[in-house]
Amino acid sequence: MTEKVHRLGLLSMFVFLLIVLLGAWFAGRDKSDSEGGTRFLIGISQPNLSDPWHVALNEEVKEEVDKHNDIRVIFTDAAQSSAQQKEDIRHLVGYGVDLLVVSLDDPAALTATVAEVYRKIPVIVLGRGVTGYDYTLYIGTDNEVVGQKAGEFAAETLKGRKGTIVEVQGFGDSPTVQERSLGFREAIAGSNLEVTHVVNSDWQRDRAEDQLTDLLAKDGNVDLIFAHSESMALGAYRALKNTGRMNIDIIGIDGVTTKTGGSPYVSERQLIGMVRSPTGGREAIQYALDILNKEKGIPKKVILRSRLVTSDTESGDGADGKAAPPDRNGKETLKLGFAQVGSESGWRIAHTNSVIGAAKDAGIELLFRNADQSQERQFESIREFIRQRVDVIAFSPKTETGWEEVLSEAKDAGIPVILSDREVKVKDDSLWTAYIGSDFREEGRRAARWLTEQADREPDRVYRIVELQGTPDSAPALGRKKGFEELIRDDDRFAYAASLEGDFTKRSGKELMAEALEKFGKSIDVVYAHNDDMALGAIEAIEAYGLKPGKDILLISVDATKSAMDALSIGKLNLVVECNPLLGPQLMKAVKDVSQGKDLPMKIITSEGVFTQELVKQVKRNREY
Ligand code: AHR
Repeated sequence: MTEKVHRLGLLSMFVFLLIVLLGAWFAGRDKSDSEGGTRFLIGISQPNLSDPWHVALNEEVKEEVDKHNDIRVIFTDAAQSSAQQKEDIRHLVGYGVDLLVVSLDDPAALTATVAEVYRKIPVIVLGRGVTGYDYTLYIGTDNEVVGQKAGEFAAETLKGRKGTIVEVQGFGDSPTVQERSLGFREAIAGSNLEVTHVVNSDWQRDRAEDQLTDLLAKDGNVDLIFAHSESMALGAYRALKNTGRMNIDIIGIDGVTTKTGGSPYVSERQLIGMVRSPTGGREAIQYALDILNKEKGIPKKVILRSRLVTSDTESGDGADGKAAPPDRNGKETLKLGFAQVGSESGWRIAHTNSVIGAAKDAGIELLFRNADQSQERQFESIREFIRQRVDVIAFSPKTETGWEEVLSEAKDAGIPVILSDREVKVKDDSLWTAYIGSDFREEGRRAARWLTEQADREPDRVYRIVELQGTPDSAPALGRKKGFEELIRDDDRFAYAASLEGDFTKRSGKELMAEALEKFGKSIDVVYAHNDDMALGAIEAIEAYGLKPGKDILLISVDATKSAMDALSIGKLNLVVECNPLLGPQLMKAVKDVSQGKDLPMKIITSEGVFTQELVKQVKRNREY
């Protein structure tokens, strides 16, 4: 037995060294004579190379690496074993890689290993990711959106019919699977479609084939199979062949086996649709270089665009939601139209200054309009920019809804639109090119996470919360509420005294808090304000009522502007969740890229922190806003 283990150990060591040598040779071939030598060594750890998605990832990485003379990559393949992948990662780190790129199948098994590496070197997580935030950068798709697209297509395909669906999932407890499943189910809710069976095939083609062959042999009543990956969709396809059930439709995810993002089987019409989930291999190398070169403003998440490929669109419209690069007509200076929402908060002033300053630094001509909290005025500004034929339009939408018409006009005029700081909700996501800003839902979760940690220290206590919401229907108000509620909803220790609609101003925070105190008085335990200005207003109201903010009532806020950090350092606030307004430089980079016809990620999510009274002293001096 021991001898067998010893032999296995030697074998895996040998395989690893072989992969290292082959990987280094493969990625570095033709470069041995290049000047300057290797500056950076990057490790790429893959869970398997049997899934076409992982193979495509390596190919994209190689293509991108070939453009640089000074980087080398080492690839490892864990052959479907999480234990082996842990070993691979340790070997890569021991081998001295400067940065690790990791893609994994089983987050439960690998999250701790990735976190450990992140304490030593930068880590980029790709696609089916880890849980938590212990990594430098995540690149992948928005899995809920991916699931939604698949669900909408299923509902459209089986329109009006009663449809029975089998869902074929990867590892059941991974966030990727949960989010894809949630999006799919949300999209079919209210239709006659029903997911009657869930099969767990661990992302593997052969497993999906076996399990579905068994299931179909027993159950005649299946109309559609929704498979969470291309390889499992191919397994499903084989199961249909095995059982002679070619009347069942399949929808898959990934679409990496052809250039257009489809699959040979999509054109055969059995696999009726594939929601594309790009691998991010190219972006991983580009960002790896930025990280290793210590560039500023590295985002926390880069979300790539996914699109549905069907047998009708298989030839590929090539658009991927991307507007054609603007016709520059020989002009040298780029013209950017920016429709700002207003000047409601300290955060907003910092955001405006960042946009104006960055445009100047980048040599971009900026047409800046401030809508003073009027959506109508934002429409007018965007239409004015279209008339003036700007190269790119950017704006911070007041609300999530109501933008279809004006964005369609911009699309028809061929002008790309970038959302700066706030998102919109439109059915056709090709109406906008990219979003650069925060993950507001995560900000809400962070606020709630801290509160639950406080509550853990004082069992048996109930917390009565007053929530001061931002502008109704705005992305930050919706996201911060949703994320916060996600964590406290089912916890008996928390109850809302009131959740009041404000508008992100200090005045509204003060007025709403005074009303709440009038009604609930000393029974209020916690104030959760959707931004610093409202929290600062609430502090004034609490003091006027004769209570001590931060002591008699706990206060949580979002933004981390200087004035809030001051309040935190003197104990009047208890927690500040960061929301970064310094988005100008990233916006100008995106404006330049899109004007040169480069692909932009769908979303670039900024990296942000959380500040307690203990932490604030260390960071206050370095704050830029
Ligand atoms: O959209 C970002 C939010 O808008 C900020 O958190 C808030 O202060 C602002 O006005």
